[in-house]
Amino acid sequence: MSERPVGERLTFHADRDTLEVDLSGMAFHTAAATEAFYDDVDARVGESGSRWYFLVNYEDCEISPEAWAAFAERGKRANISYGLGTVRFGVNVNVRESIRSHAQSEQFRANLFESRDAAVLALADMRKRHLTTGATSAESFLKVEDVLLRFGGVTALENVGFSVHPGEVFSIIGPNGAGKTSMLNVVSGFYRPTSGRILFEGQDRTHLKTFEVARLGFARTFQNIALFRGMSTLDNIMTGRLLKMKYDFLTDALYWGPVRKEEIRHREFVERIIDFLEIQAIRRTPVGRLPYGLQKRVELARALAMEPKVLLLDEPTAGMNLEEKEDMARFVLDVNDQFGTTVLLIEHDMGVVMDISNHVVVLDHGVKIAEGTPDEVRNDPVVIRAYLGQG
Ligand SMILES: Nc1ncnc2c1ncn2[C@@H]1O[C@H](COP(=O)(O)OP(=O)(O)OP(=O)(O)O)[C@@H](O)[C@H]1O
Ligand SMILES: [Mg+2]
Repeated sequence: MSERPVGERLTFHADRDTLEVDLSGMAFHTAAATEAFYDDVDARVGESGSRWYFLVNYEDCEISPEAWAAFAERGKRANISYGLGTVRFGVNVNVRESIRSHAQSEQFRANLFESRDAAVLALADMRKRHLTTGATSAESFLKVEDVLLRFGGVTALENVGFSVHPGEVFSIIGPNGAGKTSMLNVVSGFYRPTSGRILFEGQDRTHLKTFEVARLGFARTFQNIALFRGMSTLDNIMTGRLLKMKYDFLTDALYWGPVRKEEIRHREFVERIIDFLEIQAIRRTPVGRLPYGLQKRVELARALAMEPKVLLLDEPTAGMNLEEKEDMARFVLDVNDQFGTTVLLIEHDMGVVMDISNHVVVLDHGVKIAEGTPDEVRNDPVVIRAYLGQG
């Protein structure tokens, strides 16, 4: 263990609620040494009497396999007792993999960044989002008001309303035919509600068309995958950029230079998404040949290529095995964290995605029957009955 005392490794930035933790050059070889380090940290943070965002420097930090369980457990406990969120930088490959796999199995956010600057920026964003996450900001972000949707004699949605806060993962769950996809179609502008309103950033946009809603910053994936099966992964994702492209083929002939430059910019953005979603290996593969789970990921990539403010996901884990579901849940969390994208997610099962949601609305037969945190909803007898009742 390094010579430097723990006190010198902790820097409290009280003006930004941030505690900088410098693990650089440390080696955690045993569980006992790890426990001792955390005891010391806990005592010092306890004295502060506040909660903190953690900015953790992992440069040249080594964690031995024997120490991992203690390291992960104490880190998690620290977060629960006095953390507001964590970002990490300078993480070497081995530690990175361990953090990723723990993040996945225990559903916390890995938040790994290349540099201290990038980590600081992400933390500032996270803090800003938390500070603006309140009743008033939801009013002006995305609000669904009293939406009624009828198809002839069928009432798909019966006066459903809710408010989505900026930066949250918001889920709508419910049994088959509950009206989930209908709600997503209303929000995306594909269906016009029979009555009720959709407000976004303070504006009434109930009557906008799908492409106008997309322009405002909404992107979606579909319950049944809607990709160009014969086209490669890369080309499919590029189609997500179309909305962002300024030049058409005529200007292409006139201004070859600017067009080239713009195309390069789009390509670079798409490459970032490909790296982010770890689909480099299939960039040239026609998507029709990919397994289902990967097609779903390509669809997510295409939606991200639109740089949306709000991502609408219709059953992103349907038909997947547990491992694929956990992967998808992790990517949704990472998108939410690293791009600050608000996510409106629809799910049938109360499975993996419940754990990553900040807020859940439950629909049944077109009616909102419950709303709250995942735990509140999971234990609500009305919800349990609705799920048991389905044939
Ligand atoms: N275009 C439409 N025309 C007529 N009825 C429709 C239409 N779209 C949806 N419905 C009806 O509205 C109700 C809600 O359907 P919706 O697809 O929104 O449910 P869901 O919760 O997404 O179900 P699932 O879990 O099966 O995807 C159903 O009774 C359905 O038959
Ligand atoms: Mg549906």
